[in-house]
Amino acid sequence: MRAYDIIRKKRDGGELSQTEIEFMVQGYTSNEIPDYQMAAWAMAVFLRGMNARETADLTMAMVRSGDQVDLSGIAGIKVDKHSTGGVGDTTTLVLAPLVAAAGAPVAKMSGRGLGHTGGTLDKFESIPGFRVELNKEEFIRNVNTVGAAVVGQTGNLAPADKKLYALRDVTATVDSIPLIASSIMSKKIAAGADAIVLDVKTGSGAFMKTLEDSFALARAMVAIGQEVGRKTVAVITDMDQPLGRAIGNALEVKEAIETLRGGGPSDLRELCLTLGAHMVTLAGKAANPAAARARLEELLQNGQALAKFKEMVAAQGGDPRVIDQPELLPQAQKVIPLLAEQDGYVARIEAEELGIAATMLGAGRETKESKVDLAVGLVVNKKVGEAVAAGEPLVWLHVNEERRLAEVMAKVKAAFTISCQQPAPATLIYGEVV
Ligand code: URA
Ligand code: CA
Repeated sequence: MRAYDIIRKKRDGGELSQTEIEFMVQGYTSNEIPDYQMAAWAMAVFLRGMNARETADLTMAMVRSGDQVDLSGIAGIKVDKHSTGGVGDTTTLVLAPLVAAAGAPVAKMSGRGLGHTGGTLDKFESIPGFRVELNKEEFIRNVNTVGAAVVGQTGNLAPADKKLYALRDVTATVDSIPLIASSIMSKKIAAGADAIVLDVKTGSGAFMKTLEDSFALARAMVAIGQEVGRKTVAVITDMDQPLGRAIGNALEVKEAIETLRGGGPSDLRELCLTLGAHMVTLAGKAANPAAARARLEELLQNGQALAKFKEMVAAQGGDPRVIDQPELLPQAQKVIPLLAEQDGYVARIEAEELGIAATMLGAGRETKESKVDLAVGLVVNKKVGEAVAAGEPLVWLHVNEERRLAEVMAKVKAAFTISCQQPAPATLIYGEVV
């Protein structure tokens, strides 16, 4: 078998066999196939596409390229949740304890933030003492005793994806649906998920900017799940404005605590209930999503979800007092309002621009080496559809380092469109693929 022939076959619109796909993935991982051949192959896939069977074979070849996490020491069906990446996406902080309180085990491997979206590990680390580096035994023990644990990735998961993603990044082959779908699913499957709930973001702050592409990506991932025996559900949700109000690590922990207390921003609460209901149902802990949702609402109301968060924080070495005293979280030196200059309604918020602004304040990484300032970020005071009067704050900036403040303020201001007409209410959930 030769890489050349496989590239040519795909270039000409052919369907690749499992053996051919495996040959490319294994060869690339072991450095036998050079970057230029893999790049040509990725471009052929980009232009010609892949069917569901090829996409599933690519996914599993990437899973087999490295370690696979063995979660068999945890009783029950392990359901993982994945978001395609958003701004101020605080859901994992809420969902891990909420779903665990409903009896479904949550064994979650999360990542750090890079670019305009924050990372769940950084968010948890803003809780003083919280350790995301548990060894495998601690991880499994915590899930078995507490019900939930969130850790950084250990082992060499889907190295083929890592290498291919870096190559795609520099060869204009990132935004291909089969390549994105297999990339995401390979990492979830390698991390040991029995079932997967996907939050596919759509809109200005998301990978997929149009509803059509978002549904296509969702369908591709659900089809992979079907082909490889991992029940997968996808929910297509809005990322045309940030989720909730807080963007920034400690600020999002505070927002998660408010939500677990039964309050919090209505969009964050609603998304957590929707995704959580699917997780609990796939884990076999409720008969259907409606019953699961009712149970989750009860757990937010009766304090059990919040108690589970406290238990989870303590079990990972974090200071559980932050739950009742959020002032123990890192605090920025200054809180500066950005004021509206005219009366009207918020018609649009460019989520990605706010994500970049928060990163510039230090809440995220501009390069892999940047150090994150856990205290800083943005709190959106006026979301889409809300009325605003001139002189009222649109956003509160939590700031330590004022060097780039003027630039950040200009960016935040430009992210808002104020209109004199009240816009149609923003949609949060566009649909589901099951
Ligand atoms: N996220 C991933 O993990 N992979 C992609 O290819 C795109 C987004
Ligand atoms: Ca948020």
